[in-house]
Amino acid sequence: MKIAIIGAGYVGLTTGTCLAELGHEVICVDNNLEKLEKLNRGKSPIFEPGLEELIIKNQTAGRLTFSDKIKPAVEQAEVIFICVNTPPKDDGHADLKYVEQVAREIAGTINGDYKVIVDKSTVPVKTAEKVKETILRYGAGKTNFDVVSNPEFLKEGTAVKDTMEPDRIVIGVDSEKARDKILELYRPLIEKTKAPIKVVSVRSAELIKHGANTFLATKISFANLIAQTCEEAGADALEVLEAIGLDERIGAQFLKPGLGFGGSCFPKDIAAYKKTLEILGLDNSLIHAIERINLEAVRRFLRKIEKELWVLDGKQIGVLGLAFKPDTDDIRNSPALRIIESLKKDGAKIKAFDPQAMNNAKKELPGIEYAENPYEAAAGSEALVICTDWREFKNLDLERIKKLMVTPTIFDGRNIFEPKVMAKLGFRYFGVGR
Ligand code: UDX
Ligand code: UDX
Repeated sequence: MKIAIIGAGYVGLTTGTCLAELGHEVICVDNNLEKLEKLNRGKSPIFEPGLEELIIKNQTAGRLTFSDKIKPAVEQAEVIFICVNTPPKDDGHADLKYVEQVAREIAGTINGDYKVIVDKSTVPVKTAEKVKETILRYGAGKTNFDVVSNPEFLKEGTAVKDTMEPDRIVIGVDSEKARDKILELYRPLIEKTKAPIKVVSVRSAELIKHGANTFLATKISFANLIAQTCEEAGADALEVLEAIGLDERIGAQFLKPGLGFGGSCFPKDIAAYKKTLEILGLDNSLIHAIERINLEAVRRFLRKIEKELWVLDGKQIGVLGLAFKPDTDDIRNSPALRIIESLKKDGAKIKAFDPQAMNNAKKELPGIEYAENPYEAAAGSEALVICTDWREFKNLDLERIKKLMVTPTIFDGRNIFEPKVMAKLGFRYFGVGR
């Protein structure tokens, strides 16, 4: 099938590449020329395990191309995916200006052939209806199209795997023709993985995505609330949460306490859902509480550092991890950045290391030192602050780290080490909820 992907970001690029891998002919369109230049050289603009190899493979096979021109891509495509970003406005509402812009461009391009336009970006309920209205308004009377909601559930760091082995495929459609087209598109995946397919109304599909992300964010904030309780009451949050998670109705995933959730999705999506509740006249205090606990996770962690180190002015602090989670170079809404900004404001000298995210961080965070490796970040530091649970941090030579530091103190925002082991090794060690 001929596919156009508009917006080659984390979601669009992964979706387009995986659809090419399934045998479709895909053009990814993006207005960022620097990104396109990289892609055309077979380089992925983002660090995402397995993605670059798949891009090269499908480019070489002639199934995957990149362009800055919407018109020719849309003209030849049977299915068009809208994957542009939907950033939050100041009031939390999703800013849909890029979605509208793309819808207008599609309207100016579609001809008489039937097209399915798919909302892949996470958007508030009823957005697909607006996209449809927009295409009708600017489409010179062309009605031979359907708008579908097909939310993406991929996680950064495991994006390719999540796309190729999905837990479920959600298709929100109002027409049988569109349903059949999207089922045909995913047939190779459905046959291979036996992933459950949920064919639902367009509005339901839009709400499934916001609902799923809000629930996951709720689990994380709940875990952080338990961690706070444990710190005040003298219990161990990992023991408590592990046992809670063994209840099959609850499940163990997304119950890790730490510095709270960051990234480009959860903070933005729960803010948008909160706004949706407000617009619908419903109580949104649950979402307020999730957000408050998430902010408090970072605040409490900073208070711990200040209490232990006392005066921060002039002290060198090593920071391990800048990405909002491991296996990505993405620093959008990363708790690490908030922590560094705050420590910097108090006069601390920061020496940071991340295995993948330093190039992105250098643009956002000038004025701090970047280390070549974790040991260099530890050398001469009065404390090490762990902000991301990269696997390689778990295997550090802690004896070596201890010798390199001025005072062997570790603030572990992701609980990657065991308090007892660390104490034995001679560290002053502070985890979260332990
Ligand atoms: C996406 C979705 O859009 C978002 O709603 C979802 O919740 C998370 O995933 P993401 O892929 O992470 O966002 O965004 P980003 O990496 O910013 O990619 C968007 C791409 O669209 C960028 O490459 C940008 O250059 C491109 N773009 C944006 C266009 O080509 N045209 C535009 O008008 C706007
Ligand atoms: C999320 C959703 O998981 C995915 O389904 C959706 O499509 C996009 O948004 P992503 O933001 O890429 O994916 O990463 P995710 O693994 O969900 O982590 C989000 C944040 O929560 C990270 O900052 C992570 O460190 C944090 N987290 C996650 C916790 O603090 N504790 C946990 O138990 C799990």
